[in-house]
Parts: sequence; structure tokens; C-alpha cells
Amino acid sequence: MKNIVILISGSGSNMAAIVKTSLRDHWADTLGARVAAVISNKADAAGLDFARSHGIATQVLDHKAYPDRAAFDAALAQTIDAFDTPQQPVLVVLAGFMRILTPGFVNRYAGRLVNIHPSLLPAFAGLHTHQRAIDAGCKVAGATVHLVTPELDHGPILAQAVVPLLPDDSADTLAARVLTQEHLIYPKAVYELLQKK
Ligand code: GAR
Repeated sequence: MKNIVILISGSGSNMAAIVKTSLRDHWADTLGARVAAVISNKADAAGLDFARSHGIATQVLDHKAYPDRAAFDAALAQTIDAFDTPQQPVLVVLAGFMRILTPGFVNRYAGRLVNIHPSLLPAFAGLHTHQRAIDAGCKVAGATVHLVTPELDHGPILAQAVVPLLPDDSADTLAARVLTQEHLIYPKAVYELLQKK
């Protein structure tokens, strides 16, 4: 069995999409994979309730309880590694996890750490992607699934979805349109990555 560990900070709708797809498509049988744990850096992340109600182990690691980024990342790695064994190697999936990770953490999970970012990378790395796309006059927007490398929002691209950016879009309407696509491409990209492993 391969263990998928999903990191969230908020609503966790991408995490929920991956969990639902994994159950609907019987990943345990077809891939030998399951979502083993959901870890949040926020105790009030709504996604935690969804995970609990699906019988998935949850953990909260409050980054504010650690003196620095390296200490938080070390605790995070320790928590993840409880699900990482030679028989059950872990895939770490960032799903709206709003923390910058240290190179040490990223390198520890090289090739098995994925992220979804709400823009068509390499355009608009960082925050406020939707407003920046509107301000730039983009005619399309979208989302990118990529392997994580130490540079923020870089790394080999696994999947992208493109949506139209409409003249009367606000950051919120655009975000909602993009998020719908995220829920389709992220489970598919995770499936394909696990299939290759
Ligand atoms: C998603 O749009 C995701 O692409 C974005 O946060 C949202 C999380 O939604 N991630 C980032 O901005 C990472 N830099 P969710 O919690 O409902 O999955």
C-alpha cells in the first residue's frame, strides 16, 4: 500500500476531491494507494472535519508553536514519516498548504512531494494569483500541479487546466472557476504519479 499524506491549511476542497476520487475509483485495489493522513497547520481548518468523517487520521501541527521554520518542518517531517515505511512509501500532497517549506524538507521528499498552485505557472508564482492575472489583462487563467523543488512554485509541471478569464471577473469569481478545475486535475495527476511509482 502506498500512503498518501495530504497537507492543508484551510477548506481542504482539493484534499476532499482526492479522497472522494480515491474511494470512488477504488485506488486501494487499482493502485494499492490510500489517503492515510491529513495534516493541517491550523486547528480550525475545515478540511479536518471532512477527513475525520471519512475515517482518515488527522494531525494538527501549529507552526506558531515552533521557534522557526526549520523546527516546524522537522516536526512536520517526523509526523509524515510515521506513515512512510519501505512497504508503504509516502506521497506528500500539498493542497492549499500555505507554508513555505525549507529546502531540507523539500529535498527529503524529492520526487514524491506535489503541489497545486492557482495559476498557469510559470506565470504568477506566489500569492494573489487571480487578482494579478486580472490586473495583467490575461484572457485565460488556470491551475498547475507540479513536483515541488526548493524554489517557491517551481518544479516540473505534471498537469495544468486552463479557464477563460471573463471581462467582469473578480478575483473571487475567477478563483471559483479555477477551483472547479483544480478538483479535476489534482486527483488525476496524483493517480498518474502513483501509477508510475
Ligand atoms: C487552492 O486554490 C489552491 O490552488 C491554493 O489554495 C486553494 C486551496 O483551496 N493554493 C495555493 O495558493 C498554494 N500557494 P482548498 O483548501 O479548498 O483546496
